[in-house]
Amino acid sequence: MKTTLENVTFRVSYPDISRSDEYYCRAENLIPGATQTLAKGPTQYVCGVAPKYLERGFGSHVWDVDGNRFIDYSMAVGPVSLGYCYQEVDSAIRQQLLKGISFSLMHPLEVELAELLRTTIPNAEMVRYSKTGADVTSAAVRLARAYTNRNKVLCCGYHGWHDWYVSVTTRNQGIPEEVRSLTHTFEYNNIDSLYRALDEDTACVILEPVTFQAPENGFLDRVRHACTENGTLLIFDEMWTGFRMAIGGAQEYFHVDADLATFSKAVANGMPLSILTGKKDVMKLCDQDIFFYTTFGGETLSLTAAVATIKELRRRNVPAHIARLSGQLRDGYNEIARNLGMHYTRCIGLDYRTMVVFDSDCGNQLEMKSLVQQELIKHGILWNGFHNISYSHTDEDIKYTLAAYEEALQTLREAVLHNRVTEMLRGTPVQPPFRKSTGFHTKPAL
Ligand SMILES: Cc1ncc(COP(=O)(O)O)c(C=O)c1O
Repeated sequence: MKTTLENVTFRVSYPDISRSDEYYCRAENLIPGATQTLAKGPTQYVCGVAPKYLERGFGSHVWDVDGNRFIDYSMAVGPVSLGYCYQEVDSAIRQQLLKGISFSLMHPLEVELAELLRTTIPNAEMVRYSKTGADVTSAAVRLARAYTNRNKVLCCGYHGWHDWYVSVTTRNQGIPEEVRSLTHTFEYNNIDSLYRALDEDTACVILEPVTFQAPENGFLDRVRHACTENGTLLIFDEMWTGFRMAIGGAQEYFHVDADLATFSKAVANGMPLSILTGKKDVMKLCDQDIFFYTTFGGETLSLTAAVATIKELRRRNVPAHIARLSGQLRDGYNEIARNLGMHYTRCIGLDYRTMVVFDSDCGNQLEMKSLVQQELIKHGILWNGFHNISYSHTDEDIKYTLAAYEEALQTLREAVLHNRVTEMLRGTPVQPPFRKSTGFHTKPAL
């Protein structure tokens, strides 16, 4: 059942965030970076205006520790695909909780979920579980290296905090040069950049099949072909596309077959579960040749949440709901910007997930984003540039948000016109996200 609130009236003044600030003061010298996930942390929200700590959620709405309510467009940075406190998922968790969480032997849910995944994800001949996205992208890379008996990795996108990937970013301290030298990047929609980087030691190509830019000129088919030709495994990192773009992810949506695929986020409506799927001959190496095991891999609250979530995603055709509301928000935003003559901002992306961007020719992009965020916060909308829609977002949410955008963009337009963006900010502007969504971290082979 959908969790929606009716007749919601949001604030029209900047919220009191004093309890958030108190928690932050306590965290500052205790928790490095203050956060466990950069995208949720203090650098991504206007400091002094936006709340820092959330306490609860219901449907598409969240409440901060000061009691302020917001429509949420981050949804825990992706995982909450159905909505907060979604009845079918929560009752499955409660029922399992009565029986236990983690056990000393395997649990039937491991098999039941694997069977469900086999009928959901195109390449899921075999399935393994873990807890984080980085766990399964790293397992996929290790499998590819073992299967091909090669060492090098080519990537395009963001794939988590582990050495093999983070070595291509600027935060690469603590990673030996020997490891760094094995991973390089290629450019999305630039098949020549992939061909230039591929060589006889390339074990795998791993990419986010799509982010905010649609594949052009059969790019994904050509990547598949290049990999097959070179004896290189193709890995789709479906952390965002999985269960959201289509229930079977980008493989289903684009009809492109990956050797291995990795999932997390939307699959368990907020419970921590990641999934590795793949072709039997590759996955079979997990039996003997490679080691990929972890204590909490079979933890049952997440497994039961995933079963309930997948069933509900299917029953409600959630990707269609997400696509409809996401498309309305994107097109509505662009119409407002066009009508206001603001050529320097637009909303981009395919229907499954969209993002607002600002050009640098009219001012500082981060300050412009911060001003819009600040004005949306005033209207009770928690936004960091993205629209991660869930099944609980409603037409009313979208209507309300577009009305708030209209006001926020008018404010931005005036500020840009009179060169007053910096002055109008009531707090510290946001910083660039580490996990880039376009213009990924680059470290080409040549
Ligand atoms: C595409 C992609 N791959 C991998 C990861 C890493 O997942 P996790 O943070 O769960 O380790 C993320 C996280 O945002 C992601 O967006």
